[in-house]
Amino acid sequence: MLKGFDVGGAGAVPGASVPDAIEPISDREAAEALDRAVGQVAMNLPLYGEKCQNHSSVAGVYPPCGNDQWTTGFWPGEIWLAWERSGDPEFRRAGERYVESFSDRIRLKIAVDHHDMGFLYSPSCVSAWKLTGNETARAAAILAARQLLARFQERGAFFQAWGPMGDPENYRFIIDCLMNLPLLYWASSETGEAAFADKADRHAATCLAHSFRFDHSTFHTFFMDRETGKGLRGETCQGFRADSAWARGQAWAIYGLALAYGRKPDPSALELFDGVTRYYLARLPDDLVPYWDLSFNPAAVRGQGPYGPDSSGEPRDSSSASIAACGLLEIADRLEEGATGSGGSPFADSCRETARRMLGSLSRRYATRAPGPGKGHLLHGTYSKKSPYNACTEEGVDESLAWGDYFYMEALTRLAVKWVPYW
Ligand code: GLY
Repeated sequence: MLKGFDVGGAGAVPGASVPDAIEPISDREAAEALDRAVGQVAMNLPLYGEKCQNHSSVAGVYPPCGNDQWTTGFWPGEIWLAWERSGDPEFRRAGERYVESFSDRIRLKIAVDHHDMGFLYSPSCVSAWKLTGNETARAAAILAARQLLARFQERGAFFQAWGPMGDPENYRFIIDCLMNLPLLYWASSETGEAAFADKADRHAATCLAHSFRFDHSTFHTFFMDRETGKGLRGETCQGFRADSAWARGQAWAIYGLALAYGRKPDPSALELFDGVTRYYLARLPDDLVPYWDLSFNPAAVRGQGPYGPDSSGEPRDSSSASIAACGLLEIADRLEEGATGSGGSPFADSCRETARRMLGSLSRRYATRAPGPGKGHLLHGTYSKKSPYNACTEEGVDESLAWGDYFYMEALTRLAVKWVPYW
């Protein structure tokens, strides 16, 4: 039997405690926060028209962009969530316009030579198909799933994340890809073609074997041997260091494992979810929103090392918290579905309570208070921050982030209704 999480005590880090545990968000607060977000989406609709929303805000406002980034599915995802909440036909019309854009993108193969087909097509098109039966959306999402399938590397059994196929500099997968797999499972059940699900299962097994360290922290990226298919080494791109835990990567793992558990409710997946989530929660500062890397942890905040470098001046990543909250709510739903008798599951209750505390902090301390054209819902996200040890290009530091906003709305929606996931 899994024990619940002790958010108020951050027990896994010796010497650290969280003095002011954040109150869980109430149903009323969550509904008001969701309605504010829907209002912001409505305000932004005319601004983007046929364009998409940039991956991050710039000085607090999202510039428009073409449909050529890995992140453009999140804005239509927000529009579909806004439609689910409000029933306003303006949102549905906008969502349908984006279906056309995403259909063009995959047919014309515009910027789709990477693994992020799930991030692009689950919130923009699987959503439209599930909600309205839009056939163009269904066809586009199946094409996107085929595109992802073509990135499977037999030697090593994984989906290559980035770059030309087989390129030695890019013979690796990344933890984020767990969130791209649901598109393949969906495509398998839509088409009856087992290859989608088989390859997704094989990638998941490779990821589970290599991305998770013994202490339940995660590697961001993992290289495989091109000749033997064996695991080589973990590296980071957006984390602080190769051996640290990038806060968003750990959150992708939390949500990815919750979705994997929903597909195959295997006790070992639940144990792994528990360990990975505990690692994350134990390294949150008092307000339950992580620094951009978990090595900047509460012990370090209080000068108690040796857990990591001093966090002073380091930005948070609010998007990581919104993703983790969705993972906690997803696993709670799956556990409750599986529970027999009327007792429910204490572990599910603890997951729900933890998610509510995180959302309490996000909505009270991180959400935009003054709506305005082009603004997002959550402040203080970090897309990519340069460190002396990583190779990323710095962008979107201490800004709103497209996926942070989307998962914040998704989490609030999950509190408001029994939501059918787009994933
Ligand atoms: N999936 C890339 C990122 O989270 O930045």
